[in-house]
Amino acid sequence: MKKKLGFDYMVLVVAFSICLCLICVSAAKQENPQHKQQLRFGKNGEFKILQVADMHYGDGKSTPCEDVLPSQFQGCSDLNTTAFIRRMILAEKPNFIVFTGDNIFGFDATDAVRSLNAAFAPAIALNIPWAAVLGNHDQESTLSREGVMKHVVGLKNTLAKVNPAEAHIIDGFGNYNLEIGGVQGTGFENKSVLNLYFLDSGDYSTVPSIPGYDWIKPSQQLWFQQTSKKLQRAYMNEPVAQKAPAPGLVYFHIPLPESASFDSSNFTGVKQEGISSATVNSGFFTTMVEAGDVKAVFNGHDHLNDFCGKLTGIQLCYAGGFGYHAYGKAGWSRRARVVVASLEKTENGGWGDVKSIRTWKRLDDQHLTPIDGQVLWSKSFGGNFSLAYGLPYSFASVITY
Ligand SMILES: *[C@@H]1O[C@H](CO)[C@@H](O)[C@H](O)[C@H]1NC(C)=O
Ligand SMILES: *[C@@H]1O[C@H](CO)[C@@H](O)[C@H](O)[C@H]1NC(C)=O
Ligand SMILES: *[C@@H]1O[C@H](CO)[C@@H](O)[C@H](O)[C@H]1NC(C)=O
Ligand SMILES: *[C@@H]1O[C@H](CO)[C@@H](O)[C@H](O)[C@H]1NC(C)=O
Repeated sequence: MKKKLGFDYMVLVVAFSICLCLICVSAAKQENPQHKQQLRFGKNGEFKILQVADMHYGDGKSTPCEDVLPSQFQGCSDLNTTAFIRRMILAEKPNFIVFTGDNIFGFDATDAVRSLNAAFAPAIALNIPWAAVLGNHDQESTLSREGVMKHVVGLKNTLAKVNPAEAHIIDGFGNYNLEIGGVQGTGFENKSVLNLYFLDSGDYSTVPSIPGYDWIKPSQQLWFQQTSKKLQRAYMNEPVAQKAPAPGLVYFHIPLPESASFDSSNFTGVKQEGISSATVNSGFFTTMVEAGDVKAVFNGHDHLNDFCGKLTGIQLCYAGGFGYHAYGKAGWSRRARVVVASLEKTENGGWGDVKSIRTWKRLDDQHLTPIDGQVLWSKSFGGNFSLAYGLPYSFASVITY
């Protein structure tokens, strides 16, 4: 009896162990092999990022365009947003795409899963790695903010994450960072020479005494601070220890109150509406200045603003509205922002660290007209770059069809 029990017990233990083992293996596998995919600079020494802000995707063909000229209204739908992404990808051949929130316009998306799938479809179909953050409208359909982000991270080619594994407590969904490696076969091949940070700027305040939009919380700022420190430590240590941190670019939906620091005398682009930030300042701008690696911040949210302005060494940029089922201005083209980081050429003909970061926008017109080219950051100015806005940039040398 005793022996039999022992035998049963053994069988149970062995079976249980096998099960556990299988679960472990499958969990390890599920840890998304795509996330292991390393982004890195190409052999041309460049890394190009396309920012798509405020697609406001609804149900597709049946969802009409907003704020287009009367003559453009007929036959205009979410499919025009899709067509614009495809054209942008084919024209610019970006290495990476960032969707900066309000990817779907919840109230007009009857099935969040279908709308999200359709919204990101061009990036997936054209095989471009991509990431997304949440806006204030993404949760208004059939999924919660957590649900949207969980769906997003399961889609093909995405490098988005729900939240960083190392942060045990963090507000929001879709806070993560990505490292862009140096060119393979160079001294920088194992270093992140450009860092991307993504944050969830939330939707609406839940604090009764504070009206309006949400803000970036202390928990998120702490994660950012620790991540920035860790990345800087790695970059400034062997091999090829660097003297200054690798530049960082930050993407989130709702602009910071500091985006209201400019006027047309010190920004590039246009400001055609107010800055719809939170009504309180949670200090994230100061946190970024203090961290020392962030060179530019990219937001969406205000579709009629598309400027970049520099404050205390950080460029605050809008992309301008992209989606056709989003409010806009009839006759003022939908648009997207492109950012290119370029590496320093080394003496032996290889590639080094990031030398400069440039940006421009393209309009959704017949020629995808490029506008507002500027240098956002340049190493040779050593941070002493005193112009409030970037240098004007000649398109002739950057646009390659
Ligand atoms: C929307 O797409 C249709 C079909 O391709 C096209 O005829 C129309 O000009 C587009 N409208 C706008 C405003 O781009
Ligand atoms: C990068 O890492 C690989 C694998 O560990 C190693 O073989 C290579 O030498 C490293 N390159 C540099 C420049 O340190
Ligand atoms: C931009 O210029 C205005 C004056 O035209 C000034 O009030 C503002 O402080 C400037 N902003 C920055 C960031 O330099
Ligand atoms: C930046 O300015 C400081 C102080 O004026 C100076 O010491 C430093 O050499 C400058 N850096 C560059 C790269 O010009």
